Amino acid sequence: MAMDSLYVPNIFLINLSILILLINTSLAFNSNNRLTFDTSQSYFDSNVGQLVINKLKLSNSAKNFPLTFGESRTALVTGAGRGIGKKIAEALAQGGVSKVICLSRSKKSCGEVADSLNSQGYNAYAYAVDVSDGKGVKETCDQILSEHGPVEILINNAGITKDNLMLRMSHEEWEDVIQTNLNSAFYFTSALLRQMIKKKFGRIINMASVVGISGNAGQANYAAAKAGLIGFTKALAKEVASRGITVNAIAPGFIKSDMTDKISDAARAAALQNIPAGTMGTPDDVANLVAFLVSDQSGYINGKTIAVDGAMT
Ligand SMILES: NC(=O)c1ccc[n+]([C@@H]2O[C@H](COP(=O)([O-])OP(=O)(O)OC[C@H]3O[C@@H](n4cnc5c(N)ncnc54)[C@H](OP(=O)(O)O)[C@@H]3O)[C@@H](O)[C@H]2O)c1
Repeated sequence: MAMDSLYVPNIFLINLSILILLINTSLAFNSNNRLTFDTSQSYFDSNVGQLVINKLKLSNSAKNFPLTFGESRTALVTGAGRGIGKKIAEALAQGGVSKVICLSRSKKSCGEVADSLNSQGYNAYAYAVDVSDGKGVKETCDQILSEHGPVEILINNAGITKDNLMLRMSHEEWEDVIQTNLNSAFYFTSALLRQMIKKKFGRIINMASVVGISGNAGQANYAAAKAGLIGFTKALAKEVASRGITVNAIAPGFIKSDMTDKISDAARAAALQNIPAGTMGTPDDVANLVAFLVSDQSGYINGKTIAVDGAMT
């Protein structure tokens, strides 16, 4: 609640400072409730003989601006074993998504994430599949659908890099990166979309990259895959927007994870020079945006690519 000005009757003037003190003291114990009381903006209006308190704002962030995720939704996060995907799985579980399915190449990594979430009282499951294997993805998705019912939230996050200059890039490097980053999103979406359409609700996030927007020498395969994801996002959003489904892409910049840990110190220093924020981002920076985009509150944001890049692009 916010209002520009409040006229306080004279009878309350004497006790006003005590009242403010009490309110602020009691609110200090509850970080969810915030009362902003800007006394420097207040003055006595001699025309009406009353104290005017400007900019009285009472906000209860937990109650007034919550993110909600429906009554009982299931989210599937690919590449949830480490890095950005792990943080996304954690953010969705902690944010209130009823069931989070963590998927990665190795059962060990997604299993550890799911176990950790379950030990904190959340409801998580682990599945391992190579996302570049269309047949394997279809079988795994069918198994997930039969064991858990419809998946309403799909995060196509798994990805790899196999960098090389064009003249040295092998067919295998090209194909592996396209298969894992781009074709995987098609495989998962085609396996799960029908159920979203039936439920008239769905949220799909495709993890692109700033490299898919700006390009980067030595990453023709990765840039092509990520730019492909952006095109896929726009086209699919137009196809399914009328069915209550949103499809958005996120373009992270330089985010601290295993993927960027393997970059040489020289390349890291060069990359940092191109980031106006001056620092790398964290997986949390990306996970926070994912949580918002898959919440009930973001149903009208559709077909967009949003960068999380410290003003890089
Ligand atoms: N980090 C960045 O700066 C950055 C910037 C822009 C975009 N991105 C994108 O963000 C996403 C996540 O990146 P990240 O940095 O978190 O990567 P990461 O730390 O290397 O983690 C990658 C995750 O993807 C899974 N994965 C990779 N290939 C797979 C396959 N064939 N089948 C199944 N799972 C597979 C891995 O499974 P295992 O755990 O089993 O190995 C792992 O859980 C990627 O799409 C990446 O391109 C990252």
